[in-house]
Amino acid sequence: TDKVIFDTDPGVDDALALYYLLRHPQIDLLGVTTVFGNAPVALTTRNARFLLRAWGHDAPVHAGAAGPLTPDMPPEFWPTSIHGDNGLGDHPIDLEPQDDPDTAAQFLIDQIRAHPGEVRVLAVGRMTNLARAVQMAPDIAGLVRDVTLMGGAFRVPGNITPAAEANIWGDPLAADIVFGAPWRVVAVPLDLTTRTFMDSAMLARLAQAGGPGMRLVADLSQGYVRFYQAAGYDGMLVHDCTAAVWLTDPDLFTLTEGEVRVLSDGIALGLTLMNPADRQGPLGAWEGRPRQFATLDGQPDAILDRIAQVC
Ligand code: BDR
Ligand code: CA
Repeated sequence: TDKVIFDTDPGVDDALALYYLLRHPQIDLLGVTTVFGNAPVALTTRNARFLLRAWGHDAPVHAGAAGPLTPDMPPEFWPTSIHGDNGLGDHPIDLEPQDDPDTAAQFLIDQIRAHPGEVRVLAVGRMTNLARAVQMAPDIAGLVRDVTLMGGAFRVPGNITPAAEANIWGDPLAADIVFGAPWRVVAVPLDLTTRTFMDSAMLARLAQAGGPGMRLVADLSQGYVRFYQAAGYDGMLVHDCTAAVWLTDPDLFTLTEGEVRVLSDGIALGLTLMNPADRQGPLGAWEGRPRQFATLDGQPDAILDRIAQVC
């Protein structure tokens, strides 16, 4: 099995990703770290605990960053029309937020050091916790097995601005630090996740066939689906779960390799820019930047089938 730490801001599509990880026999979930994003960190942390409790799992939850590393940038949240005021589509949650200390980065460090070469980090929110962890303990870059993140928009428009995808836009400096560290990063960007669209019929089928766990996912996704319906699409994009499928079924994805930079100011704030290894300009590689990867392409239908099989 793969030892996974899930760094997340639940978040409706985060909830489906977490459910997928818990259901998948190949995944051994070491813990969940939380970050601000779809809602303030106190709520995303509470939501992670609520979901784990509902699904009968006792993985530890460690609260993380309340705001970005990027200087002069306040924490920004998704419009609450997408993930609801409570971060889970305004589904009723019978659990109060707690006043947690920020222990996520230290938890990442401790776990990566405790299992050298084994830990896979899946980050589906702002990259703030990961960036802080590798700044605090640069040795973890050589100890982690790999880092997968849902984020970026390389050859397609962003979803927050024309340039930027939400997880990157919310803390561009953190993302630049993560792409610049000497570990293996695989980004699962909008290029692919805007094609993994679960339509309402499929969601309803899964809720029926999958039992109470999947029914909860479907219930809390209703507001998210209404958001897409208002835009003319009957269903929802499963961004974060697509990144979870990368961990278990890499054959369904096509990787592009190159150095990645993230713009952290100006009108293209949050733009992810790749210098592809096989098509570099005359100036060549970007000095000092490691080669990373992005799943710019893949098999959306097969990825959705995998989600249906597991969930
Ligand atoms: C990302 O933004 C968040 O709202 C989603 O949970 C996903 O991680 C998509 O851009
Ligand atoms: Ca997310």
